[in-house]
Amino acid sequence: MAEPRRRRSVSQTFLVDLLLGQLDGLLPGDSRSLDVVDLGGGTGGLAISLAERGHRVTVIDPSPDALASLDRRTSDAGLGGRIRGVQGDAADLVSLVGAEGADVVVCHRVLEVVDSPAEALAAMATVLRPGGVLSLLVSQRHSVVLTQALAGHLELARQAYADPARFDHDSVLRLVTGSGFAVLASHGIGAVADHVPESVLESEAGAYAVLAALEADIAQDPAFRALAPQVHVFAQRPARPLG
Ligand SMILES: C[S@@+](CC[C@H](N)C(=O)[O-])C[C@H]1O[C@@H](n2cnc3c(N)ncnc32)[C@H](O)[C@@H]1O
Repeated sequence: MAEPRRRRSVSQTFLVDLLLGQLDGLLPGDSRSLDVVDLGGGTGGLAISLAERGHRVTVIDPSPDALASLDRRTSDAGLGGRIRGVQGDAADLVSLVGAEGADVVVCHRVLEVVDSPAEALAAMATVLRPGGVLSLLVSQRHSVVLTQALAGHLELARQAYADPARFDHDSVLRLVTGSGFAVLASHGIGAVADHVPESVLESEAGAYAVLAALEADIAQDPAFRALAPQVHVFAQRPARPLG
């Protein structure tokens, strides 16, 4: 396989492989297709990968443009029977999916834009079957602070640091467990890969593979994880209520 050329694809590839592996790990030796709901799934980048793995994916998104693009990508990939786009948002989740209607809920880069993250997580728990899993990806405050400061936007950096609505690893874990989930794993995404100049990947043979391996090495190191642009949380709705 040719090496992907864009450096962001190192962290994106790591994330997709991580999630596919986590889902495979839930079903050892089982080829069952999972019912996946991708809340705020946009144009379906992840939905395509999940459907190619055999899963059935419902993308719920408020944007008609994103859903039109999803339809085009789905039909280009020949995955028409496995991906369905539905217009709606987090507040519609339970009415669109129904209680215990999904094995997996994906919520990537969406919790930041919903009116109430806690209510959105409660809705995700409601639509999951007992034992079902949540794949949550959120942007981290510390990385925003660094990025703004290094770009010279010092006031914005201070505002980002003081903004209680921005997530970090520990606050998002508290939110997830507070919604009744058991956290199975958390990984930083892009802690190193998103900072390596593209010229390094283009000029050195094998650099992509080494960077991908490094990204995997450090993803659960607490210091790197705290500084990663994004954190991925894989959590499970317990088969029985906790306690
Ligand atoms: C940053 S994009 C992320 C898209 C995709 N999940 C990804 O990771 O590439 C945010 C998406 O959330 C959708 N969105 C915005 N408000 C939403 C809401 N209240 N509920 C669900 N999705 C929402 C947007 O239309 C957009 O597709």
